[in-house]
Amino acid sequence: MSEHARTWLITGSTIGSALAARYATSASVRKVIYTWHSREPRFDSPKIQTMQLDLTCEDAVANALGNLEQLDGVINAMGFLHDNIHKPEKAISRFEPDALLKSIELNALPTALLAKHCRQRLKASSSGVFAAISAKVGSIEDNRLGGWYSYRASKAALNMLLKTLAIEWRIGLPNTCVAALHPGTVSSPLSEPFTGRHHSPVTPAESASNLKDLIDQLTPDKTGRFWSWDGTELPW
Ligand SMILES: NC(=O)c1ccc[n+]([C@@H]2O[C@H](COP(=O)([O-])OP(=O)(O)OC[C@H]3O[C@@H](n4cnc5c(N)ncnc54)[C@H](OP(=O)(O)O)[C@@H]3O)[C@@H](O)[C@H]2O)c1
Repeated sequence: MSEHARTWLITGSTIGSALAARYATSASVRKVIYTWHSREPRFDSPKIQTMQLDLTCEDAVANALGNLEQLDGVINAMGFLHDNIHKPEKAISRFEPDALLKSIELNALPTALLAKHCRQRLKASSSGVFAAISAKVGSIEDNRLGGWYSYRASKAALNMLLKTLAIEWRIGLPNTCVAALHPGTVSSPLSEPFTGRHHSPVTPAESASNLKDLIDQLTPDKTGRFWSWDGTELPW
């Protein structure tokens, strides 16, 4: 990836804010535009510009992105697994229609809206990246355990959106690499109820560092692939 003053748009709470902080420490990064939803994090770096954005609202996304300068990279790190009402369904008997709709709304829709409205902003970049944080459980081929119907299905939908976008942008935005990323297990409110004795989560800062190392290796010829945090490729 060429080393010039680059501008990144990064979204998401725990992993997203850690990514924004990590990118801001890079000499090749001129500016990070970070979007938050309900709680604005505090950043030390003057390179980080923050804005509130509901990534499920197309008008809000269009307005926010329409006013931005050229971007070199977009990382969407927002998402949804559970709340007070919805828990991952272990069996189809526990399936809740609302959980599937909410999961699609928060795990798939925002990336499609970001892609639609940041296309013009990424077009001039000589080496752009458009990435979203997916999850290994969204891989259909890798699904050996089952369960988590709504989350798996919504991440599989996200993956399909990214793969389809990569095919379109091979011609429309040939300098941009489109990628789905699995962050590993990371300490956050999203993972907290599920990181028992079988998983040892990494900190958000470690995760951000791992993901940046991976993203730094993404060149346009690698577009349309699904990567784990350690650089290994995952099956769709
Ligand atoms: N943590 C892990 O171990 C792990 C593993 C695999 C994949 N992932 C994926 O990594 C991504 C980040 O997860 P995380 O662990 O950092 O979880 P997180 O801290 O819960 O971050 C997700 C954030 O999405 C934001 N959000 C919800 N609705 C939104 C909206 N309408 N507009 C904008 N933002 C909205 C929420 O912000 P507010 O709180 O402000 O509403 C929420 O905090 C997710 O896609 C997740 O599926 C995480």
